[in-house]
Amino acid sequence: MIVGAQWGDEGKGKVTDLLAERADSIVRFQGGNNAGHTIIRGNETFKLHLVPSGILHPGKTCIIGNGVVIDPGVLISELDELRRRNVDTIGLKVSANAHLIMPYHLLLDSEGEAKLGELKIGTTKRGIGPCYADKAARLGIRVQDMLDETILRKKIMTAMEPKRQELRPFARDPMLDLHTMTEAYMTFGHRLEPHIADTAALVWNDLQAGKEVVFEGAQGALLDIDHGTYPFVTSSNPVAGAACVGAGVGPTAIDEVWGIAKAYTTRVGSGPFPSELDDDIGDRIRDTGGEFGTTTGRPRRIGWLDLVALRYASRINGLTGLCITKLDVLSGIETLRIATGYRTDDGAEFKDFPYHQSVLHHAQADYVDLPGWQEDISGARSLEDLPQNCRDYLNFISDSLGVPIVLIGVGPERSQVILSGDRAAELA
Ligand code: IMP
Repeated sequence: MIVGAQWGDEGKGKVTDLLAERADSIVRFQGGNNAGHTIIRGNETFKLHLVPSGILHPGKTCIIGNGVVIDPGVLISELDELRRRNVDTIGLKVSANAHLIMPYHLLLDSEGEAKLGELKIGTTKRGIGPCYADKAARLGIRVQDMLDETILRKKIMTAMEPKRQELRPFARDPMLDLHTMTEAYMTFGHRLEPHIADTAALVWNDLQAGKEVVFEGAQGALLDIDHGTYPFVTSSNPVAGAACVGAGVGPTAIDEVWGIAKAYTTRVGSGPFPSELDDDIGDRIRDTGGEFGTTTGRPRRIGWLDLVALRYASRINGLTGLCITKLDVLSGIETLRIATGYRTDDGAEFKDFPYHQSVLHHAQADYVDLPGWQEDISGARSLEDLPQNCRDYLNFISDSLGVPIVLIGVGPERSQVILSGDRAAELA
């Protein structure tokens, strides 16, 4: 299982892409098109939001599990774009139980943010929160509903009813017309029908047959609705435990959990960020690392690596391995800081991630300073190729977490990785 160990955008797509090569199926289990994966292959760049990145490997089953929320228009555009670029999409399977993002979810997301004003969450405005809210309220429309016009119409009517007041300003929006919406979603249903399946059964069959299944998380632990920096979180559970629910497998099926973290920290949207950098070094990392959102294009907030948050993410995910990405971005910085604790104005110190939101909002990071390296490391393919300072930086992280580093990213290309440890050696 691949999960984000920070606030998302850790480079999960690249790691999944590497693992997908030898896996039989790749499964997404939560989130929706708020996620964005960029995969670089030679001089081709693929930006995927919903389709699991394994689709680029022919012959794989790529599953969008029941825990994902799907904007069917976006999914179909992605399939069209992949087909245009000669990628075979026959292996894509979509859970009949996954929930659908409806036009009113998009409007409610934007409206909700506008109403919050300064307190806004900074959502991706893709309708994610309102869709999961309807799921919990049992007013959701599911993928299988697109296959029956009578049911679809009735369910849309029922779901719209309690939203009448909030949707009043959009009463004339043609997309909210019941007939138009039903027609549009029936058309999506026809297009997607060959892909719709009982995906939990597909995963079960693969596991029974001893095949390798990769679960691909979206977002990251600190954006988890239960364990993240609530309310500045997404509306799903990006932590490893959620894969069981969102894909329909038991916890005994999972044998490895790899957490992905950048060599520094980024965050998009609002919310606390104790190791945030608001200076030239932050700007430099943003520019060198191309830290602009794949989904929204927003500049990402930048900070030093935060070991307090990373230790927390490691604990709640039960990480068995750690992948450190974008290490090359730090080359040339004289002194690198790593947050090892938090401190509040009244002098209270925290070595562990504080549970109280107010503490986190006022926390300043305490740092350990390590010497940087000047060398270009983008050509390194083994730990021995890395400068000593760079290895010290990595050792500091894995010692602090008690989790081995299994993969290190030193550039955007899929070949620009260093694999370490037994399991990783199998992938080489
Ligand atoms: P939502 O998921 O669109 O509701 O947004 C809620 C919060 O999660 C916002 O702070 C978003 O910026 C953040 N978020 C959602 N998806 C991603 C992602 O893929 N990467 C980074 N942040 C994300």
